[in-house]
Amino acid sequence: MHIFLLFVLLVAPVTAVPGCHGGRDKDHRRQENCTAAGFTGVPAGLEPATKVLLFPQNLFSSLSWSSFQIFTEIYEIDLTGNKVPELTPSSAPILPSLSVLRLGSNRLTSLPDGSFSACPALTELYLEGNAVVSLSDNTFSGLSKLEILDLSYNRIQVLPQLMLQPLAVIETLYIEYNKVLTVPDGWFSPKEEVPYLFLSANPWACSCSLGYLRGYLDEYEYNVYVRNGPIIMTDPLSVVCDSPRRHKATAVLNLEESELCPPEPVHPIRGDGNKPMETVFKATTTTPKATTTTISRN
Ligand SMILES: *[C@@H]1O[C@H](CO)[C@@H](O)[C@H](O)[C@H]1NC(C)=O
Repeated sequence: MHIFLLFVLLVAPVTAVPGCHGGRDKDHRRQENCTAAGFTGVPAGLEPATKVLLFPQNLFSSLSWSSFQIFTEIYEIDLTGNKVPELTPSSAPILPSLSVLRLGSNRLTSLPDGSFSACPALTELYLEGNAVVSLSDNTFSGLSKLEILDLSYNRIQVLPQLMLQPLAVIETLYIEYNKVLTVPDGWFSPKEEVPYLFLSANPWACSCSLGYLRGYLDEYEYNVYVRNGPIIMTDPLSVVCDSPRRHKATAVLNLEESELCPPEPVHPIRGDGNKPMETVFKATTTTPKATTTTISRN
């Protein structure tokens, strides 16, 4: 009898929520794995002491921070491959213990100010494979512990000037496979060095405004990587110009500063094709105004 009871306690699943199975993650945290079970939200009946909640490939069409609030020790939430279209900024840290949030392959198109204010203790944030077009200076505000940020495979065109400022301990930044043209001056400061940086497969515009990135790469080229699944390799030449045409496919690091930002050519006055040459000449040439200086003598 005693042996039987022990057997039941050891082997029976921790919870009886259909579609989920209890277990432990690699660091022995209590986990519920509810992969591909058709959930549109957090099901009732999961053990509140769960630390790792896995809901990949489900049907969540929104992320309600408070629906995870009963898991008071929550460490990781995996919502990869759901249908979340937007995030709601929260005025309070609803999930203060959450460290890892996976939102890859959802339907996010923008990430407004304070998108992650509900979970200020995040150390890893995965947003790859969405359709994010725009970010703001304050998208990641409050994430002072964030070490890994994955924004790869989105449609980001502009890196907001102050976006990295809150990320005081960022270690790994994935922005490959976006539509980024340039990096604002001083973008990496004040932390400056990001040990793992993934910048490939963006349409870098190799003109004067890329001068900051060019200088940055010179200094930190050994931090620039590409990845292939779990394998990462240093590849500072993976940051490649897309425009102007004369530099297309050239690695940014292989351009001389004078090629990136040639001195302004002195154009001869030319007709613009619509107006007769004479008019253009008259319109663009002005006689310097005579300067009158009155010297008063007493
Ligand atoms: C979760 O369960 C699925 C099958 O339902 C399995 O493929 C996957 O490896 C599990 N994940 C973890 C982290 O245990």
